[in-house]
Parts: sequence; C-alpha cells; structure tokens
Amino acid sequence: MTTERRHIQWQGSHVTPEQRRQAIGQRGCVVWLTGLSGAGKSTIALRVERRLLELGRVAYTLDGDNIRHGLCSDLGFTPADRQENIRRVGEVVRLMADAGVVAIVALISPYRAARGQVRARQDEGRFVEVFVDAPLAVCEDRDPKGLYAKARAGVIPNFTGISAPYEAPESPELVLQTADLSIDDCVEAVVARILPLISLPEPE
Ligand code: ADX
Repeated sequence: MTTERRHIQWQGSHVTPEQRRQAIGQRGCVVWLTGLSGAGKSTIALRVERRLLELGRVAYTLDGDNIRHGLCSDLGFTPADRQENIRRVGEVVRLMADAGVVAIVALISPYRAARGQVRARQDEGRFVEVFVDAPLAVCEDRDPKGLYAKARAGVIPNFTGISAPYEAPESPELVLQTADLSIDDCVEAVVARILPLISLPEPE
C-alpha cells in the first residue's frame, strides 16, 4: 500500500438513507447463498430474483461464474484469490444494499471467516446468510457443469469439496436442504424471509 492513501477522505452523501428508501420503495439487503458447486445456489438465486421482481421489488443476482468474467476476472481459486473474490463481492453488495437493492449473491464462498468479514461490513440485520446445503455425493452426482469429474481426474486442482475445503456456516439465517426440498419451496422460504426485511412501514 502506498502512502497516497493518506490523502483519501470520505465524501458524505446529500441524501439520507430514508430519502433513498422512499425513492426506491424498499430497504435494501444482502442475500448470501453459500454452498458447494452444484448445490443449487444459482438456480435459487435467479428464481428468487425473478419472484421479487414479480412482486414489484428491486433485486439483482451476482453469480460467482459471471462475476469472474468481469469484476474478478483476475482471480483464480487459491485461498487468497477466493478470499479476495468474496471480499470484493461483499463490498459491491454493501453498496447495492445501501442503494436499496436486494443483492442476491451465489458464491461458493467456502471460508467461514471470509463470510463473517462480509457480514461485519453490512448494516446490522441486513445480511441474510443462506446455506444451500446438499451432500457432496448429491452435488457430484448432479455435476451440472462436469467439473467434479474433471476434479476427480485431477484436471481441476483446488476444487471445493474434492481437493479444497468447504466450511459450512455455523448459524446461517436459513438452511435449504436442496436434496429434500423442491426448488419452489426453497424460493418461497427465501422470499418469505426477505419480504419483511425490505418492506417499508405503511404511511400513517
Ligand atoms: S469461490 O470459492 O471464490 O466463492 P466461486 O463461487 O466464485 O468460488 O466459483 C465460481 C465457479 O467457478 C464455480 O461455480 C465453478 O463452476 C467454477 N470453478 C472453477 N474452478 C473451481 C474450483 N477449483 N473450485 C470451485 N469451483 C470452481
């Protein structure tokens, strides 16, 4: 880090959080889906986003695969790169939630401490950690992108669940056991959890 940072100041806003909420008609929050590759994170995220939009809400999905095409295209899958991937997405959704959006994240985000750091950067009560919980054997059997087969064959190193760790959340806001629940049930569970968080009080 260079000494130039000493000259950076914080620029305050001319808009209050309440004015922003009124303009957009909701309060923002972060919905953070974590779990193994193939657990169902992206499927649930995209369906939750669509459902919220149908309900007139403003939501946007940040999917790990897509984010790695742009914002995080310089990052690989070493522990340091994953940590930075999670941190960057955490900072983006902090801004999005501040702007009033429901920011839905689908990221393996295998490290408990890194997820904890993201949570600590969000406003109190605005971070909903959703453990998309499917046994490794089920994810490997689904293998939607054929990546587990490649990881087993040694073609992909550091693959989560095979040759890299996944640390399950200890106290997530929501657990979705996707091997047992339908996608509709998972989506409804997330939406039911989110709606009270983002709704503004009725005007008196
Ligand atoms: S994270 O660990 O940094 O949170 P992320 O969610 O961005 O992972 O991974 C995005 C996608 O990269 C995964 O869904 C998977 O399809 C693909 N991928 C490629 N290599 C790996 C790997 N070594 N481990 C896990 N996923 C990988």
